[in-house]
Amino acid sequence: MGKLDFHLLLLTIYFFFTIALSGSGHHNQQFNEAKNYEGSSDLVNLEYHMGPVLASPIHLYTIWYGHWNPTHQSIIRDFLLSLSSSSSSSSSSYPSVADWWRTIRLYTDQTGANITGDIVLSGEFYDTWYSHGASLTRLTIQSIIKTAVSAYPKALPLNSYNGLYLVLTSSDVKVQDFCRAVCGFHYFTFPAIVGVTVPYAWVGYSGIQCPGICAYPFAWPNNSGRPPPGTNGGNSKIMGAPNGDAGADGMISVIAHELAEVSSNPLVNAWYAGDDPTAPTEIADLCVGVYGSGGGGGYVGKVYRDSWGNGYNVNGVKGRRFLVQWVWDPIRRRCFGPNAMD
Ligand SMILES: *[C@@H]1O[C@H](CO)[C@@H](O)[C@H](O)[C@H]1NC(C)=O
Ligand SMILES: *[C@@H]1O[C@H](CO)[C@@H](O)[C@H](O)[C@H]1NC(C)=O
Repeated sequence: MGKLDFHLLLLTIYFFFTIALSGSGHHNQQFNEAKNYEGSSDLVNLEYHMGPVLASPIHLYTIWYGHWNPTHQSIIRDFLLSLSSSSSSSSSSYPSVADWWRTIRLYTDQTGANITGDIVLSGEFYDTWYSHGASLTRLTIQSIIKTAVSAYPKALPLNSYNGLYLVLTSSDVKVQDFCRAVCGFHYFTFPAIVGVTVPYAWVGYSGIQCPGICAYPFAWPNNSGRPPPGTNGGNSKIMGAPNGDAGADGMISVIAHELAEVSSNPLVNAWYAGDDPTAPTEIADLCVGVYGSGGGGGYVGKVYRDSWGNGYNVNGVKGRRFLVQWVWDPIRRRCFGPNAMD
């Protein structure tokens, strides 16, 4: 639920293989279906289910769980600092991370209130002592939040009005379903564990455990039977990470994915497609693997290259560059990002 579901990505890659291995014929049908999210709205039945969206300015609290490399932390922190239109419009050139967030702001609740463009990094907590061990269930993530908001002396505030908690686990932490079914997920806390209901997201550092699955497209499964995807056509070289670390740069897109979905579906009763609220297809699920125009079916789409050839599609604070997947645009009715060519 609200997870970054890699079934969709793997499905997309599968279709690519299918087409690559067997040529045209009836498989083209499947290929087009996998790609179709970008080009057509016919198959997408995204609906609003009357629940709230994150319309108030978001106070984002980051919980660093485990032992983190400070370089990786600053890449991720700079991405979070780039989200807000107020903090980054002056310092980041177009297309910026905040420009990417504009698509998410197009979603409203039943009062007509849009998702906010204000995302303030309001606190960070360092759980360096692995308070709940190095092997976590999905539910334990809520206990980690509880620990962070009850710590002494430097607890995070328990902000049930406009708080959003982001739990990031280090390379050595195992999380239920991590690397197998999910790279991240979002949900809301239960009062019995945390005291109140607040939205949260979790994303794991995949650089050691499963870069080929969760740090796409900067890594690629060795056993996939084909070379890594090129970015702009036939180039089969793996795409370089814009901040130098496939794990951290890959996490950025997963974090972006989860923040987009938790904002548009914080209590899992607002924006999603499909009839099953326990397995909703949300606004970023519809665009997994798409980072630029023409993306889909194993091709990331048209993205920029820096002078070292690394791929990116948005600019952030302090001259940073990031590669973030696109999200579903409710007005254009297709996947969209600010680096679109059309
Ligand atoms: C709010 O959402 C509506 C409907 O999608 C959109 O037309 C409008 O431009 C949005 N406002 C902002 C500030 O994004
Ligand atoms: C996959 O290939 C890369 C580059 O050749 C290598 O560094 C890495 O160890 C390989 N991983 C596995 C799991 O074999």
